[in-house]
Amino acid sequence: MKQIDVVLTPAMLPLYQIEGKVVVVIDILRATSSICVAFNTGVQKILPVSTPEECATYQYKGFVCAAERDGMVVDGFDIGNSPFSYMDENLKGRNIALTTTNGTYAIEHARHAAIVVIGSFLNLQAICTWLMKQNNDVILLCAGWKNKFNLEDTLFAGAVCCHLKKEFSLCSDASIAASDLFMLAKDNLYGYILKSSHAHRFKKLNIERDIEFCLQQSIFTEIPVLSGDYLIKMELPQRG
Ligand code: MLT
Repeated sequence: MKQIDVVLTPAMLPLYQIEGKVVVVIDILRATSSICVAFNTGVQKILPVSTPEECATYQYKGFVCAAERDGMVVDGFDIGNSPFSYMDENLKGRNIALTTTNGTYAIEHARHAAIVVIGSFLNLQAICTWLMKQNNDVILLCAGWKNKFNLEDTLFAGAVCCHLKKEFSLCSDASIAASDLFMLAKDNLYGYILKSSHAHRFKKLNIERDIEFCLQQSIFTEIPVLSGDYLIKMELPQRG
């Protein structure tokens, strides 16, 4: 039976074999949620980059440049990591260079997997339906906060484990714990996440509305996938 595992932070990734596997990168608040919004808006491709300095160089190559650190837009950039920034119709067809505190860091560290896709509550059902059709084992990689555990990414990993428990074996204590955490919180995700360190951080920054938006479930069908250096929208077979 195919196996699904949960890696609680990128710092733990070296302990896992990801070659030949599908890695779902998870950064619910907010990188992977915002990336899903961007592709729903119609962005052409997204280039994850490591630093704001590198990101800024892409403005001379026609990219829209977006940079977030510690939850805030980096000085000199117009866009950070709020999902609301990626709903702008002017982004249709554009290429984005993106760097965030945790999400792009996690993507960078997952590159040697067979396939890297982007998961969020916003595309939860689409990701689960797609994963069911794959033959590979799956790694759910939580971006966490600066390589530490966080609640929201682990909750999403638990949601995926619960959705896929008939098709995949939950092969570790991390996947079992994530599933149990989701079962505990699923009836009031927003209320539960208000306990998280990120929610307290966002309250100080007066951006709680981002939390509520990012916890909506399965409102998008797009699945962003890594193709070379870029994230693009996965071409899915049309429903017939
Ligand atoms: C990120 O998305 O990298 C971080 O979790 C921080 C944020 O978006 O505020």
